Formats: sequence, C-alpha cells, structure tokens
Amino acid sequence: MLFVPADSERKLAKATDAAADALILDLEDSVQPERKALARGLARDYLQNHARGTSLWIRVNDLRSGELLKDLAAVVSARPAGIVLPKILGPEDVQTVANYLDALEESGGIAAASIAILALVTETPAAVLRLGEFVRAPAARLAAISWGAEDLSSALGAGNPRLPNGAWRPTYEYARSQCILAAHALAIEAIDTVYVDFRDTAGLRLACEASRHDGFTGRFAIHPDQVPVINRAFTPTAADLSLARRIVQAFDSGAGVVSIDGKMYDIPHLKAARRLLISPQNR
Ligand code: COA
Ligand code: MG
Repeated sequence: MLFVPADSERKLAKATDAAADALILDLEDSVQPERKALARGLARDYLQNHARGTSLWIRVNDLRSGELLKDLAAVVSARPAGIVLPKILGPEDVQTVANYLDALEESGGIAAASIAILALVTETPAAVLRLGEFVRAPAARLAAISWGAEDLSSALGAGNPRLPNGAWRPTYEYARSQCILAAHALAIEAIDTVYVDFRDTAGLRLACEASRHDGFTGRFAIHPDQVPVINRAFTPTAADLSLARRIVQAFDSGAGVVSIDGKMYDIPHLKAARRLLISPQNR
C-alpha cells in the first residue's frame, strides 16, 4: 500500500505506474493545513479518473482534527475502496466513521458498507491499551489494521523509538505485537508500518522478511522504489508453495501427522499450508 501525498500532482501521476496493490492518497500528515482543500480536490479527481486495477484508499484526518467531515464529504461519492483512519482513541472512533460512511454511501447511491476501513491502532496510548476491545466486538467495515511508532512516540513525549542497534524499544515492540495478534484474532489484514529510510532497499528487504515471518500480511510504502521490494517479500516463493502443496497432499491419506523429507508436520502445519494456497493463483 503506497502512500501518496494527495496535494502533489507529480507524485499522483507517478504513483499510477508504481505497481502497488493499493494506493493511499494522503490528506493527513503529509499535507500542510493550507493545502488540505487542494489535496481533497486532487484526490477526488484521481478517484474519478483512474481505473481500479489498483485499490484506491484515502487517508483522512483524525476525528478530532476538524477536517474529517470535509475529507469524507469530498471523496466518498468518488467511491474509494477504503478509508485509512489515523490516531484513533478506541473502537468507537471506527464506529463513528462507519456511521458517517453509512450516511454518505446512502446519499451517494453507493452500495451499503462497500467502503472499508483500515485503522491505525497504535498512534495513541489509549488505542494500544484498548486493542482487545475490537476482538470482543468486531467492527463491521474494519478490513485491516496497522501500527506506527512515530505518533505514539510523540504522544509519549519520548525520543527515538528505536534502540541504537535498530530494534524497536519495548513499548513499540509491544504495540507492534498487539497489532499482529488483534488482526489475526479478527481475521483481517495486518499491515506493517512505514520504513522511512527509503533509499535503503537492502534494509527494507530484511525488515520485510522479518515482518512476514512475524505475521504481517502486507506493508505500507512511502516511495515507489519500495513497492517491488515489499511485493517480493510478501509473495510466497515457488519453494514455499511447493512445500505447501506437498503437505496438503500428504494429509489426503487421512493421517493426523505426516513426515516429509525427514520432518514432522501435524495439523497446524496443514492449516498454514492451506492458508498459503488459499488464493487462486497459488493453487
Ligand atoms: N508516490 C508517488 N511518487 C513518488 C512518491 C510517492 N510516495 N515518492 C516519490 N515519488 C516520485 C517523485 O515525485 C519523483 O518523481 P519525478 O521523477 O517525477 O520527480 C520520483 O518518485 C523520485 O523521487 P525521489 O526524488 O527519489 O524522492 P523525493 O525526494 O522526491 O521524495 C519523499 C521523498 C519521502 C518526500 C516522498 O517519497 C514522499 O512524499 N513519500 C510519501 C510521504 C507520505 O505520504 N507520508 C505519509 C505516510 S507516513
Ligand atoms: Mg502518522
């Protein structure tokens, strides 16, 4: 999912060829207050004038910014695939935006509940502590969640969220893990945060490999050059797929546990293999 500042015609044009699965046209923190109106207009034009091979999302301003209703009013009738909602305090923020979307879909003649929400669930301390509430009462429309360290660090009055060796400090590692667990408990997408050092593709590749193994299902990009690196890292390899097919076949015999090339595989491995093969192009 590639972020594109929506006030930049140049970046909007460039984004079309980036081969990202999704674009997030940003109206929030990459756009200065005096350019929000311009950005809304350009985002709306982009939605209206681009075919949807790529899914098109809009990051709106947060509920307390005074900008959110203007954002939604400008873009919803142009049918974005979804809304990226920043800086939530808890599940009621997602519910409030879902209610706004109910009304705007109705007035725009758009199918009910067709616009999804991706919530940024770790940008305020309250949101991190309340993440489990989504699991107790899943929010309709919530299709994905993501986390971020920068806004949380600012909310904590803290410094660099990373340790000198590059690892996340414990508070951010905790927020990141909570995000992964909540996404899987809800069976929705777990999207890893931005990798800000956008010239360091080797570092991004390593970070994406870790992220996929940790359970993220995709990642935000901030620069077109990051897109192929992320896509490669999150696409199962031919070897991954071939092993998954062998595991599924081995269980066809009705056994509860099997051995392949000297290794044991039981039901959790079968589930993981089936999950990998679930999309038609991987079968
Ligand atoms: N989407 C689309 N195009 C982008 C882009 C993006 N996110 N980032 C850069 N480009 C374009 C540039 O406009 C430039 O195009 P050009 O050759 O037509 O001028 C080309 O890609 C190369 O860009 P480059 O010079 O390497 O980077 P930059 O210095 O222009 O921009 C950033 C660097 C970080 C400012 C820019 O990548 C950016 O704006 N990223 C998104 C930031 C954002 O949305 N943040 C919010 C989420 S955290
Ligand atoms: Mg932010």
